[in-house]
Amino acid sequence: MTATISETLLDWYDRNARSLPWRVPPKEPRPNDPAYPYRVWLSEVMLQQTTVAAVKPYFAKFTEIWPTVFDLAKAPEDDVMAAWAGLGYYSRARNLVKCARVVAQLGGFPETEAELLKLPGLGAYTAAAIVSIAFGQRAVVVDANVERVVSRLFNIEQPLPAARKTIREKADAITPDARAGDFAQSMMDLGSQVCTSKAPRCLLCPLSDLCEGRAAGEPERLPVKPPKKAKPERKGRAFWIERERPEGRCVWLVKRLGTGMLGGMRSLPDDGWSAREDGSGKAPVEGETADLGAVRHTFTHAHLTLEVIAIDGAEMPQGMGEWWPIETVEEAGLPTLFAKAARLALN
Ligand code: ADE
Repeated sequence: MTATISETLLDWYDRNARSLPWRVPPKEPRPNDPAYPYRVWLSEVMLQQTTVAAVKPYFAKFTEIWPTVFDLAKAPEDDVMAAWAGLGYYSRARNLVKCARVVAQLGGFPETEAELLKLPGLGAYTAAAIVSIAFGQRAVVVDANVERVVSRLFNIEQPLPAARKTIREKADAITPDARAGDFAQSMMDLGSQVCTSKAPRCLLCPLSDLCEGRAAGEPERLPVKPPKKAKPERKGRAFWIERERPEGRCVWLVKRLGTGMLGGMRSLPDDGWSAREDGSGKAPVEGETADLGAVRHTFTHAHLTLEVIAIDGAEMPQGMGEWWPIETVEEAGLPTLFAKAARLALN
């Protein structure tokens, strides 16, 4: 049974693997090149909670600017944060730089799961993905795609997150000793292309005859998810402060503090809203104000309505910040929320 599932899936993968910029096609030898584990690591970090389509241009940009982990390790954190802008979950970018620096110190990526797990920000999923895909070792790789495939294949009715233990055991039981990296990627491809959340394409599935969820009649019901918590509605204000300067027309930008949601990212000054509470802080400068409208954005833990207020004042804004030429505001690396706000202000 075990051999049948992995053999069937690997055979399907040999014929149907997606061609992806970070991927070595099935059956081609793993490159003996230190840039390969780097590319696997970078892609796996980018792909967390993010679609392949969204990741592709970022992966291209990062590997062009920083072709090796040693190049990335030398990069100023601000440059990496700015290059990451728009991809979301910015703690990933902060950890990326930290991790790259440790890996460069070590002379390259460690080749065991245990050692990889010691690297900053690198969790069980990424460690398993790197050792199997980049180093050809057997490891059990479980992401949301794998959870979906496994819970259907074995008709696991227990809801998430409690089902994770069983899912991992089942995933372990079907993971082959050889080609574990290809096997992991075949599960991901099957999960994203065939065994989709809604309307799974069972007629195209190489495992449909073995699928207990399909036999039970409603595979799309699985995995059973806990009821979604309603996201709170938050309100905030961002301030658009424009000035004529020797370098041209400029806007006042700040760098967000801390390691919270958008920590370390460049942004418009705002009133201190967070996912936990509405903003109540003051504008960094006084002057005549104009309401430019509002933008909406959804984070993991809240919906936000951000009002954008233009302030026409003469004083220097308070706090740390910089005058950024409006001509090049695209290059400021604003996260999506503030890019939306800037677009509103400029239109
Ligand atoms: N999602 C996360 N990692 C992936 C990979 N290596 N291939 C395809 N989809 C993925």
